[in-house]
Amino acid sequence: MSVEAATADIGAGRLVVRVWRGAANGAFQTFEVARRPNQTVLDVVTEIQREHDPSLAYRFACRVGMCGSCAMIVNGRPRWTCRTRVAKTGQDGVLTLEPLRNLPIVKDLAVDMEAFFTKWRDAKGFFEPGPAPADDFAVVKPDSPERRAADAGVECINCGVCYSACDVVSWNPDYLGPAALNRAWTLVNDVRDKGQKARMGAISGDVGCHSCHSHMSCTEFCPKSLGPTFAIAGLKRETAKRAWRRRS
Ligand code: SF4
Ligand code: SF4
Ligand code: FES
Repeated sequence: MSVEAATADIGAGRLVVRVWRGAANGAFQTFEVARRPNQTVLDVVTEIQREHDPSLAYRFACRVGMCGSCAMIVNGRPRWTCRTRVAKTGQDGVLTLEPLRNLPIVKDLAVDMEAFFTKWRDAKGFFEPGPAPADDFAVVKPDSPERRAADAGVECINCGVCYSACDVVSWNPDYLGPAALNRAWTLVNDVRDKGQKARMGAISGDVGCHSCHSHMSCTEFCPKSLGPTFAIAGLKRETAKRAWRRRS
C-alpha cells in the first residue's frame, strides 16, 4: 500500500507506518495499524509482526528500557522504541521506521552490532583487575571526583543510539565512537582498575577521542541522558595531562 493511498482514507484512529524492508538495497513497505492510548513505537512494530507480516525482523528483549536492544530510527532520529510513545514522535498519523545508521543491516529493522561491541573491546572498555586479586575491598568515597565522573556515564545500556547519531562514525567507520569512549572514561575514573596505560594508548590514537568534533549528537539523543561528549572531553584532557607529564 502506498503512503498516499493509506493516508487518503485513514481515520483519526489509524496510523500509517512506513517500515524499511530488506537490507541496504531494500525499500519501505507501508502498513496501517490502530492508534491506541499510550502506544509505544515498539508496540506498533510488534503489532505489524503479529498481525500483518510475521517475517518482519526487529530486535527487543526487556520492553522496559534496560536491555538496549530495541533502538531504531523513528521519523528520522534514533530512539529506544520501547520507551518512545508514538504521540511523542512528532509526525502525527505517519510513522517512518528504519534500522539504526552506521551499522550494517541484517534484515528490515535489525542491524549487525558486531562493530559497535568490537569497539568497546578496542577501547579497553572492560575492567582490568591486575595480576592478582586485591587483598581487601577498595573503599571508594561516593563523593570523590573520580566516583562522580564514573557515575555520570555508568548507566549506558549499549543501545547504539549515540553511535547511530554520530557523524564522525559515518565519515570514519574506524572511529571508536561515543559509547566505547564513554565506557573508557568511566574506567579511567575507576580507581581500582589496573589497565590505564593500555586504555589511554587505545583511546588516544587516530581513531580515538581526538577524532570527536564535539557535535553533541550523541549527548542530544542518548535515551539515558548520558553525556558521551563530556566523557570524550574528559579523555582529551587526560591524554593532554599525561603527555604533559611525560615531557616535564
Ligand atoms: S560529540 Fe563526538 S562522539 Fe558525540 S556525536 Fe559528536 S562527534 Fe560523535
Ligand atoms: S551512551 Fe547512551 S545512547 Fe550511547 S549506547 Fe549508551 S545508553 Fe545508548
Ligand atoms: S526492549 Fe529493552 S531497552 Fe527497549
